[in-house]
Amino acid sequence: MSLKQKILVVDDEASIREFLEIMLKKEKKYDVSTAADGAEAINLMQKKSFDLVISDLQMPNKTGMEVLEFVNKNCPSTQFMLITAFGSTEVAVEAMKLGAYDYITKPFKLDEVRINVRHALESQSLAKENKTLRRELKKNYDFSNLVGDSDKMHDVYNIIKKVALAPTNILITGESGTGKEVIAKAIHFNGPLSDKPFITVNCGAIPENLIESELFGHKKGSFTGAVSDKDGLFLAANKGTLFLDEVGELPLNMQVKLLRALQERVIRPVGENKNINIDVRIVAATNRHLEEMVTEGTFRQDLYYRLNVINIHAPALRERLEDVPLLANYFINKFNEKLASDISGISDEAMERLSTYNFPGNVRELENIIERSMALEVGNTILPESLPPLVKTKSGKQYASFDEIEITEDGIEIDKIMDQIEKELLLKAVHAAKGVKKRAAKLLGISFRSMRYRAEKHNLNAILEEEKSA
Ligand SMILES: Nc1ncnc2c1ncn2[C@@H]1O[C@H](COP(=O)(O)OP(=O)(O)OP(=O)(O)O)[C@@H](O)[C@H]1O
Ligand SMILES: [Mg+2]
Repeated sequence: MSLKQKILVVDDEASIREFLEIMLKKEKKYDVSTAADGAEAINLMQKKSFDLVISDLQMPNKTGMEVLEFVNKNCPSTQFMLITAFGSTEVAVEAMKLGAYDYITKPFKLDEVRINVRHALESQSLAKENKTLRRELKKNYDFSNLVGDSDKMHDVYNIIKKVALAPTNILITGESGTGKEVIAKAIHFNGPLSDKPFITVNCGAIPENLIESELFGHKKGSFTGAVSDKDGLFLAANKGTLFLDEVGELPLNMQVKLLRALQERVIRPVGENKNINIDVRIVAATNRHLEEMVTEGTFRQDLYYRLNVINIHAPALRERLEDVPLLANYFINKFNEKLASDISGISDEAMERLSTYNFPGNVRELENIIERSMALEVGNTILPESLPPLVKTKSGKQYASFDEIEITEDGIEIDKIMDQIEKELLLKAVHAAKGVKKRAAKLLGISFRSMRYRAEKHNLNAILEEEKSA
């Protein structure tokens, strides 16, 4: 295979084709092919990949723009350069907007062509990386990252589709773990700003005295520790989306400053005496009741109105339990990749248990349950045994962790719960001991006989065998 970079020259004028071919071949580092019109070029590109396509604009059988379109769609790592007649820069600029790297004008100046071609090829490897990166981003944050077929989720999809296109401010509300951040990303990455920045600020995680400089930036020396000028997150998000997560945690004095930034579309870095214009779409999220906070006086009403132009409510998972099977399988696929495991699904009984659980931690909790079960599971299907104990109290309420068990009027059944704890610990030990009963017994500090008895009591023998042969 030749290590030479591959260039395709497309022009209906034979003299131009030949000129470029000879000139580029002289450089000795290029492998040059030619095509006499757009259709022939596309034909060639279907058979062979090129690093750079240099194409004329007006040609019979598909124009240069159509060749560019083909490159954009099918050859994301190929650079494109347009040949234009002197004085038709407008078209060239149009082509560059559509993704052309550059253009060269006729009549050619040898040096100019040489330099442009070299630059295009140098940036090609970089562009390759960027494009894959961007495609990955798209893949990760696409609509398809929001799983659910319930009416409640369809309501959410419908609002996202509407609001993604207009730059309105949006407030996403909902309990912890309901997917507020996934929704925020879906809005950004499905709208016209998708190739602009998406910047997240966790308003609850920044120390109070640093929030202003984090958001708006600062000048060198404006406070102790400001050793150099720094752009804030607003500027980083300029032209794109700023996601203000946990916005309910913003202290009142910062709420005023945020409001001003949103109303006047300007920011002023700490220690700076000039304003900077900004153009940022705001998506905010909170799991707190902002309306209540407004009544209490801990959240400014004017800011609340400004942020809450459109409200999207992320439904709790317990309100859409019909989505549990879809989500469970989605996470199984996700963790199969991550854990390099090969779990094919979840047993009916295990699904049944999940589908009646009330998920106080919402989708995040389901995700954790699946990941944990997959790590514990020895077969290729998730069985009820490897689910966390999802404790059922007499009232039918379930808990996924023992920390959550509350002793209420309804009471609990301690023997059942102790049994579940025992089983849980046995499973962990069996797993750690790779199915060797003796070793598992040692890990648990019990005798071999006691281990054998308990394994039988909990029906673990099949699991022990599988673990051994794994
Ligand atoms: N509808 C959904 N489809 C697929 N995955 C989801 C969905 N909703 C949430 N998740 C997953 O659940 C986890 C929690 O979601 P996310 O961080 O968006 O929740 P949140 O509402 O922002 O929670 P918090 O209030 O705690 O910040 C993430 O791993 C996310 O990928
Ligand atoms: Mg969040």
